[in-house]
Amino acid sequence: MSIRILGISGSPRRRGNTETLLDSFLEGAQEAGAEVEKVILKNMDFSACHGCNACHKTGDCVVKDEAPVLYDRILAADGIAVASPIYSMGITAQLKGFIDRGQYLWARKLMLKTLSFSDEHVRRHKAVFISTAGQNNPNVFDAAFPAIKALFNGCGFEYFCNVTADNMDEFGGIKNHPTALTDAYKKGQEMARALLREREA
Ligand SMILES: Cc1cc2nc3c(=O)[nH]c(=O)nc-3n(C[C@H](O)[C@H](O)[C@H](O)COP(=O)(O)O)c2cc1C
Repeated sequence: MSIRILGISGSPRRRGNTETLLDSFLEGAQEAGAEVEKVILKNMDFSACHGCNACHKTGDCVVKDEAPVLYDRILAADGIAVASPIYSMGITAQLKGFIDRGQYLWARKLMLKTLSFSDEHVRRHKAVFISTAGQNNPNVFDAAFPAIKALFNGCGFEYFCNVTADNMDEFGGIKNHPTALTDAYKKGQEMARALLREREA
């Protein structure tokens, strides 16, 4: 029995603090028995939502690019790990743009009623938000949470936890953090084990 966890990095900076924290989480998940994959949003070809509302009638997005393809991969995963640094007190443009493109799932759920997730489905699908920020203030992440929650709800995932590290203004500073990488690794293990337990139940 295998479970799949998809990591999504919303940082435009490769191998920076946020992607490094995501990597630790995925390594922990893999060690605990999950199959893991990682996608880099900035390398994907998708535009921002056009706001045409065509999806309110059809349940599909009229823009044919890589965003719906990634949503299909999310919907097929058992777990997701969504990562973004804090930019201007919120998530990056790349991640926000991608979340907006999931509006067609919202239309299916709430307007067309063609999509729903049972409580059991949500229990068996878990998601984590991973973030870093420059300010030395643990509340700096607060404004990011609502959009992340909307993504997890929209795709039928239970919000498992946050893995965050503040005071990270320096490139690569995460490697000197006393606990962040170990904590992320342990959270990866925990989420994979929780998903495996749900599978066996
Ligand atoms: C455009 C930009 C905006 C930022 N805005 C904030 C902010 O509002 N609050 C904050 O605490 N850090 C802010 N930061 C700092 C980053 O969140 C922090 O350095 C983070 O660790 C960078 O992650 P990365 O290495 O994955 O790029 C900003 C950085 C950039 C480049």
